[in-house]
Amino acid sequence: MGRPVGLFITGTDTGVGKTLIAAGLAAWCRAKGLDVGVMKPIATGGIRRQDQWISPDAMVLARAAGVDDPVSLINPVCFREPLAPYVAAQRAGQSIRWDSIRRASEQLQARHRFLMIEGIGGLLVPLTRRHTVADLIRAFNLPVVIVARRGLGTLNHTLLTVREAQRQKLRMRGVLLNAADPPTRDAGLRLAEQTNPHALEQCLSYNKGTQTDLRNCLCPPSSIPLLGQTPYEASLMSGSVSDSRWRHQLVRWVERHCSPVLLEWLLSLGMPGQGTAT
Ligand SMILES: Nc1ncnc2c1ncn2[C@@H]1O[C@H](COP(=O)(O)OP(=O)(O)OP(=O)(O)O)[C@@H](O)[C@H]1O
Ligand SMILES: [Mg+2]
Repeated sequence: MGRPVGLFITGTDTGVGKTLIAAGLAAWCRAKGLDVGVMKPIATGGIRRQDQWISPDAMVLARAAGVDDPVSLINPVCFREPLAPYVAAQRAGQSIRWDSIRRASEQLQARHRFLMIEGIGGLLVPLTRRHTVADLIRAFNLPVVIVARRGLGTLNHTLLTVREAQRQKLRMRGVLLNAADPPTRDAGLRLAEQTNPHALEQCLSYNKGTQTDLRNCLCPPSSIPLLGQTPYEASLMSGSVSDSRWRHQLVRWVERHCSPVLLEWLLSLGMPGQGTAT
């Protein structure tokens, strides 16, 4: 799949906010004058437009980045049924062609300085008989950000995902906690949301010789940064505002809630002469 420059956004699950985060980061890059392209290599749950299935996620990403690349490049593989790609492809009597994804990504790389790519579901979603999303990430050879939802259960899901990424030797930039749902009235669930970030940071950080309350859960022990806590923001969902106003809202959301470490690294991707930044 060549050696693209960019970032691959994956998640602990479907519906955790991968599209919104990828859109926010792409809009932020655009606002900084960086030439960012977007891609959703494989999608399911497509909508019919003329003679092809179109991914709503791909449309959101393209709007955020303000690009007019052909949909066939941004989203080369799309199936109608909202299922894991392997299952959706089988039911459609088709298979996923790796070479069509490679060709599309190479053309997008030629058009843009770097790419913001959204995966599908989580790391072990089956794409073909032999490949999962983790294999797709390896084929792209890009660093990953893991988006996790806030709330009860997220420590387990996030640590499982991070461990699997480690096992598959993916290059992790870090974890982003996103509130994909409106604030809950349930005091117990609210407490989980409030305590998640600190507990997760402890599980993901490794300071040799320093005792923390929770043991480092990674294998081998290492430190994975928490790259932000993005709150629920209903206004980001509004399709009725102008593109520029929506992008402006995304940029403010990202700037306020994502870590400068992540944003500075993105800036460095846009620098001329920057290779496959890790
Ligand atoms: N921080 C947020 N504030 C408001 N709405 C959000 C937030 N994060 C996610 N959402 C909404 O939650 C829903 C799921 O988010 P999103 O589509 O980004 O998830 P996803 O991980 O990309 O899902 P998929 O696996 O289907 O691609 C969307 O309707 C999205 O707009
Ligand atoms: Mg999505």
